Amino acid sequence: MTLLDLFPSLRAAMAPRLDPALWPVTTNHDDHGRIRVGGVALDDIADQYGTPTYVLDEDDVRHRCHAYRTAFPDAEIAYAAKALMIRAVAGWVTSEGLSLDACSEGELALAQAAGIDPRRIILHGNAKTATLLRTAVDVGVGRIVVDSHTEIRLLASLAQGRQKVLIRATPGIAIHGHPALATGVDDQKFGFPIAEGHLDSAVRLVLEQSNLELVGLHCHLGSQITDSRFFAAAIDRMIGQMDQIRRDHGVLVSNLDLGGGHAVPYRPGDPELDPAALARVVEAALDDACARNRFPRPTVTLEPGRAIVARAGVTLYRVVSIKTVRDGRTFVAVDGGMSDNPRVALYGARYDVAVANRHPAGAHTPMTVVGRHCEAGDVLAHDVPLPCDLHPGDVLAVPCTGAYHHSLASTYNCIGRPPVVAVRGGTARELIRRETTADLLTRDVGL
Ligand SMILES: Cc1ncc(COP(=O)(O)O)c(C=O)c1O
Repeated sequence: MTLLDLFPSLRAAMAPRLDPALWPVTTNHDDHGRIRVGGVALDDIADQYGTPTYVLDEDDVRHRCHAYRTAFPDAEIAYAAKALMIRAVAGWVTSEGLSLDACSEGELALAQAAGIDPRRIILHGNAKTATLLRTAVDVGVGRIVVDSHTEIRLLASLAQGRQKVLIRATPGIAIHGHPALATGVDDQKFGFPIAEGHLDSAVRLVLEQSNLELVGLHCHLGSQITDSRFFAAAIDRMIGQMDQIRRDHGVLVSNLDLGGGHAVPYRPGDPELDPAALARVVEAALDDACARNRFPRPTVTLEPGRAIVARAGVTLYRVVSIKTVRDGRTFVAVDGGMSDNPRVALYGARYDVAVANRHPAGAHTPMTVVGRHCEAGDVLAHDVPLPCDLHPGDVLAVPCTGAYHHSLASTYNCIGRPPVVAVRGGTARELIRRETTADLLTRDVGL
């Protein structure tokens, strides 16, 4: 008999500390030592909805929106829907005063179904098809961010009335990190490089179209940016370009969209980009660049996606088997994997993992959590400390999985995608149901 059996009330107090930087704001432990989010035990969600399941804390999403609105009272905050697009989420963020950045017919349709004012939508994409542009024009999307000469001509042929546009520029700013995450440099597929007159040729082409109204410039430097000074450098270059447009063409553009890419921590100690700290740097850089160029202060738009929803999400898995191999490494195999979280295989992402269904008493040892897919690279978390008494049936929770998980999920190995369950005030409700084998069979229409 352990101390915890003698004094059950000690369980909550003795539960291991979960890093508040990674977990949803409402996370705590119940009297049994189980992890609770939004007042609901994750173990109960696993029982009710099965595993794997994405859990989403509505209060956390609203809390992040509020932090941005407070830090940037005069800026427009446009939630990047690509991080997680669900009608309910679109509703939460817009009710908190955010606009929406969308990039496909599907995202536009969900935004419409959520009742979002289309004038608050900004449309992105480096390869917008005629169908997408026609849909955006029909829907009445507020601003379209143009990304190629072909798109500018196509949009001009489709626009009804006067369509507001921004031009996506690449300011030539290289952020650190994985090459796939750096989009502010010239040698990649997005935008018009400022260098060698590419941006200017796009400006000219837009200004030649009588039904397009150039309202501003856009840039997106990349993902997981931890240093605000990259944004200061971008402001400096972009205001310089806006001033150049005024001088060369006599046109004053008034919207500067700085994209998203604000870092969140995935593991204890990871740096994050705090909205309040970012706001101070953005303000100072705007003051400086506008004064130097004698340029009127533009309306600033920011497009955080990950920073709004990542920490609201926790993914639940059930342990299927545990295996220790000869060199001593212990593999914990769970019932999900790279189909619900491809970020480890794609970017080498690292995660924290916790036991959710009980107080994990006793010693911990490093274990590697792997998925059920037919790939050796199907790993969810390398060398994370887990209790030595971990056993099949235990529920594992992976925090910081709200962004680019549901939206990047696949049906690899014909495994249906997990449900998304929202929690708030002690209640859980399903936002997206589990994809079933019957769903997969429905799409398989030929024999
Ligand atoms: C144009 C644009 N804006 C915003 C974002 C959101 O980035 P994040 O979720 O890292 O904030 C992206 C992400 O790829 C993007 O391409």
